[in-house]
Amino acid sequence: MRWWQNAVVYQIYPRSFNDSNGDGIGDLPGIIERLDYLEDLGIDAIWLSPVYQSPNDDNGYDISDYQAIHPEFGTMEDMDQLIKEADRRNIKIIMDLVVNHTSDEHQWFIEARKGKDNNYRDYYIWRDPADDGGPPNDLKSTFSGSAWEYDEKSGQYYLHLFSKKQPDLNWENKNVRKAVYDMMNFWLDKGVGGFRMDVIDLIGKKPDEKITGNGPKLHDYLQEMHQETLKDKDVMTVGETWGATPETAKLYSDPFREELSMVFQFEHMQLDEQPGATKWDLKELDLTELKSVLSKWQTELGNQGWNSLFWNNHDLPRIVSRFGNDTDYRVESAKLFAILLHLMKGTPYIYQGEEIGMTNRKIESIDEVDDIESINMYNERLDEGYTKEELIRAINVKGRDNARTPMQWDDTHEAGFTTGKPWLPIQPNYEQINVEAALEDKNSIFYTYQKLIRLRKENPIVVWGEYELVLPEHNTVFAYKRHYKNKTWLVLANVSRNETSLELPDEAQAGNIIVSNYDRDTIDLAKIALQPFEAIVVELKYSS
Ligand code: NOJ
Repeated sequence: MRWWQNAVVYQIYPRSFNDSNGDGIGDLPGIIERLDYLEDLGIDAIWLSPVYQSPNDDNGYDISDYQAIHPEFGTMEDMDQLIKEADRRNIKIIMDLVVNHTSDEHQWFIEARKGKDNNYRDYYIWRDPADDGGPPNDLKSTFSGSAWEYDEKSGQYYLHLFSKKQPDLNWENKNVRKAVYDMMNFWLDKGVGGFRMDVIDLIGKKPDEKITGNGPKLHDYLQEMHQETLKDKDVMTVGETWGATPETAKLYSDPFREELSMVFQFEHMQLDEQPGATKWDLKELDLTELKSVLSKWQTELGNQGWNSLFWNNHDLPRIVSRFGNDTDYRVESAKLFAILLHLMKGTPYIYQGEEIGMTNRKIESIDEVDDIESINMYNERLDEGYTKEELIRAINVKGRDNARTPMQWDDTHEAGFTTGKPWLPIQPNYEQINVEAALEDKNSIFYTYQKLIRLRKENPIVVWGEYELVLPEHNTVFAYKRHYKNKTWLVLANVSRNETSLELPDEAQAGNIIVSNYDRDTIDLAKIALQPFEAIVVELKYSS
């Protein structure tokens, strides 16, 4: 067993976590101040979104120096201190590795731009214009518009699958790969616990053939990376792979292939989108689809892979507002999604604020938006004839600022996040929803998370148990069992605001209630009645 197999990871988006110096931007000393809180929650590792030097075109995912800390976050000494202080609490720091692209202000790109003969030219992907002088092909950027940007000086285009300030690195160049591995070793030597690898499935791209994800050399590069950096180190790695299927996930995470520990798959996060369209083209979630997708991932990886489990991150809306109910049943539905996820097999990730049920942000106009993805989409679609109202609605539902509002620590000035003016406004509900209030209330969402983390540590069934979906066709109840040795646990969750009764095709009697989100100490399995957003985990007893 590897340490990350029974671990729980907590993601910090540093800009929005805790500001120690009053400039309105969260920072490393601010994180150190809150480590006791995270230790109390019980997490094992922190995935730290980027804190490197960056012009912040995409809030740090555009890196201009991988081996320097952005002054707004602190210094390299602060970083060393964070690693040390976290280690004292048995918490590992997982760095965000953003190596599909750099910033256009990275020294490599500054050099590359000087001309075709520059030694760094081939660190990036340059192509001549098409015959009509336009971009080499019609590849699109994730952040709207063409993925090619014209460079006047050399008369060539460079590739950027994200913003034009995020030129793609050319992984076919072995000097690029070597530079990345050296940089990774720099961080490993500092004692970090591993890497979350940003859009790593794009590094094997073949832009001329319009192949971006899953390129032919992708796994060769990851195996080489493993040999040059990760081998023999007791670290975890998780790749961000939007296009992963269980089959491709095994290629990344089969231990014998020596690539990554696990990947983030996003199939379950795309079920409220119209198939084949973009994230902005909304559709209602069908619970049976969610059950079937998550169950497929639970059962199909077998021993050749390991799941990552998550509902949230800095790119996704808040789960309680998205699939739950952030008004009448905020507490119940936040706990329900926690229970559903944390009883599954894999490594759970908690995104800051999820553990207190923070909600999505509501905006009324584009002037309130910070996120480059939403702004670019808005401008592009406005030109295409969409109305402002429908675009604002889509941003309210899916925009990335939803998850990026500052952490709500208490009910004082700016929710205790900063003594100054926060870079993104605090949510108006901070007086009710904040860490201090959660810690004082023994029935809070926080304590459900704490309990779920503890359950994983204390019960091998949570880590290793076989997963079995129950009642696959039921359209409001998500039910599954876990089996380990001669134990069975049943997880039942009513994902709706209506009471539901149901019958289980089972001979079992209810044993101990392991965890629940209503005040309940027994359940009659012969006639189950579930309250709105009720979730319960019960041990099953079989009489034989
Ligand atoms: C995925 C990151 O999570 C996202 O925030 C970023 O914009 C893109 N990759 C580009 O780095």
